[in-house]
Amino acid sequence: MKLKRKICLGIECTAHTFGVSILDFDGNVISIINDTYIPETGGLHPRKVREHHLECFDRTITMAMTQANLSIKDINLIAFSQGPGLGPVLRVGALIVRFLSQKLKIPLVGVNHCIGHIEIGRLKCGVKDPLTLYVSGGNTIISAFESERYQIFGETLDIAVGNFIDAFARDAGLQHPGGPKIESLAKKSKKYIPLPYVVKGMDLSFSGLYTAAKNLLKSRDYNRRYNLDDIAYSLQETAFAMLTEVTERALAHTNKTEVLLTGGVAANKRLQEMIAYISNEHNAKYKVVPLKYTGDNGAMIGWTGILKYKEVGADDIEDTTINPKWRMENVEIPWRS
Ligand code: ATP
Ligand code: FE2
Repeated sequence: MKLKRKICLGIECTAHTFGVSILDFDGNVISIINDTYIPETGGLHPRKVREHHLECFDRTITMAMTQANLSIKDINLIAFSQGPGLGPVLRVGALIVRFLSQKLKIPLVGVNHCIGHIEIGRLKCGVKDPLTLYVSGGNTIISAFESERYQIFGETLDIAVGNFIDAFARDAGLQHPGGPKIESLAKKSKKYIPLPYVVKGMDLSFSGLYTAAKNLLKSRDYNRRYNLDDIAYSLQETAFAMLTEVTERALAHTNKTEVLLTGGVAANKRLQEMIAYISNEHNAKYKVVPLKYTGDNGAMIGWTGILKYKEVGADDIEDTTINPKWRMENVEIPWRS
């Protein structure tokens, strides 16, 4: 008789995306469904995101189950994003998974969202021990596994690169998320306008760059000597060169032989090109996480939950409280120790 494979339900709920995925304990992703909140104007308002997730969670879980041709009774484990993220949004996720876990008697594990981005990359890109550049709306982190932890070698000192690009795009009248729109505008220009390039040791700062780019929109030269395409091009070149410099330095420092690019901003072709270039210079294998798994999704949470559960079992319910400021170097990684 065929052995029944074990199944995990992974739930991502830290920010804009309510993500659900069903995967088996070998890492085969059976279904993956995202429902993403897109604000009509402005940035993400935690209360509105929370309402969105409360409205869509039931439907999204049902869709993922139907797509996987499974029922909730087939689930052996629930994994959820315990932090970092927006407090009110994390709380909704925790409420849903605790209810399901307790009512249906399914073991529950909490997962660090940032580590989820790395682990799904290791799984899907066939890399074992990469230096990771994780760039998204909420995070800009250069990390590698050392001394039993995912250590942070460099990070933003203020805003994340994705947040900076989205905020600038909004100022320029583009709808959220601005990243893909800025990328396509940038392709139409080769005119570089000098902008603040701020790297401090291994850390980066994007707030001065943001202010300078925003000021260009208000300048009398705007749409005379340069246009939005030129600013988009210049801000990408500047921000991505900063990220590339720090990644290269961390690569030399850690002596890793693999580079992994992940997070929503990893979708950007120009950034991919720059990181591929330095990886090649250092004879390191370069991989970018496939689009389906670069942005926030339930599979990254499910897979990290499976890794944790296999080593240390389920969390006690009192250990499943949310942690909005949970730093990745504070997380134990028993599955790699
Ligand atoms: P996290 O919670 O990990 O910080 P997040 O909530 O920002 O993640 P992601 O889906 O990982 O969610 O990333 C979204 C970000 O990726 C947005 O800032 C968006 O503009 C950016 N992005 C998406 N595609 C591109 C692109 N082609 N170029 C640049 N940025 C992009
Ligand atoms: Fe994310």
